[in-house]
Amino acid sequence: MRILGIETSCDETAAAVVEDGRAILSNVIASQVDLHAQYGGVFPELASRAHVEAIAPVVEQALREAHVGWADVDAIAVTYGPGLPGSLLVGVNFAKGAALGTGLPLVPINHLEAHLYAHWLHSGADGDAPVGEPPLPVVALIVSGGHTELILMHAHGRYTYLGGTLDDAAGEAFDKVARLLELGYPGGPAIEQAARQGNPRAFDFPRAWLPGTYDFSFSGLKTAVLRTLQRFNGPRPPRFIADMAAAFQAAVVEVLAEKTAQAAKAHGAQAVLLSGGVSANASLRAATRARVEVPVYGLPLILCTDNAAMVAAAGTYRYQAGVRAGWDLDIEPGLRLL
Ligand code: KG4
Ligand code: ZN
Repeated sequence: MRILGIETSCDETAAAVVEDGRAILSNVIASQVDLHAQYGGVFPELASRAHVEAIAPVVEQALREAHVGWADVDAIAVTYGPGLPGSLLVGVNFAKGAALGTGLPLVPINHLEAHLYAHWLHSGADGDAPVGEPPLPVVALIVSGGHTELILMHAHGRYTYLGGTLDDAAGEAFDKVARLLELGYPGGPAIEQAARQGNPRAFDFPRAWLPGTYDFSFSGLKTAVLRTLQRFNGPRPPRFIADMAAAFQAAVVEVLAEKTAQAAKAHGAQAVLLSGGVSANASLRAATRARVEVPVYGLPLILCTDNAAMVAAAGTYRYQAGVRAGWDLDIEPGLRLL
């Protein structure tokens, strides 16, 4: 069975063909990073316009690279939420048009569920992760520019939301702090790189533990970074920016890893899944692996960040479960995973 996945929820226009929910036949991503870099974050209006220009060529390329035509595809899976309204609309409308024109079934996909299903793809595992399907139940940490969620996945399609951020997403915090430190956009990779030369104990930044919950908060940390920057406006210690980056990263990573470990233990998880752009962070993976007794699944970079192979993987399971969208399928920018 071959599923064409389409993803336009944020700033990546992506299409992919996946076979039997596991094998990636193609995985095309048109990134808008350069377009948004000058604004230090995603500019929604520009994002949707760029999606309109990219969507048809990206889908055609995905079919071409997979060496398939529309007739070789069993269904079209598309992200309908959560995400930016103007961006989601482009993917959903294109998918509806393609389904109407080809007669293929349309399968609606929750973007967060797609981030989880990236782990069911064949090339899913990162270098030191276990290979093969994760054993269920799992606790999944989804950390990206738009999300910070801890989710308990009981079985295919069955989830419990454990907690999430009360303010900034983890990736957003990385992006905002990178901007303060003038490290550029996207901030995550820039901070991780700068932090390699820094001392994580040089500054004692706050950790919002929010006891008794699996929720997160990063706005206090961001303010602490700003205050420290203002305090050292004059002469700065050597390696100041590297130390700031290292101390900030340590504060984010410690809370994410510790709460994920607590959730895994409390719910008897058989594995922990790390997904989303921030899960590319090597120190987050290492810190989680150090705290968790069960296998911790990471992903190669291309499957950490937004892509359509993960949408097609989730689409395979939804399609097999009989889920179909009607022509009235609408975007749901605030969609949750329940
Ligand atoms: O999943 P993604 O591509 O898009 C969203 O759905 O948001 O994630 C992008 C986010 C950005 O905020 C970026 O700064 C962050 O992931 N990121 C990282 C790293 N690589 C990307 N954060 C920390 N460390 C990294 N190595
Ligand atoms: Zn995402």
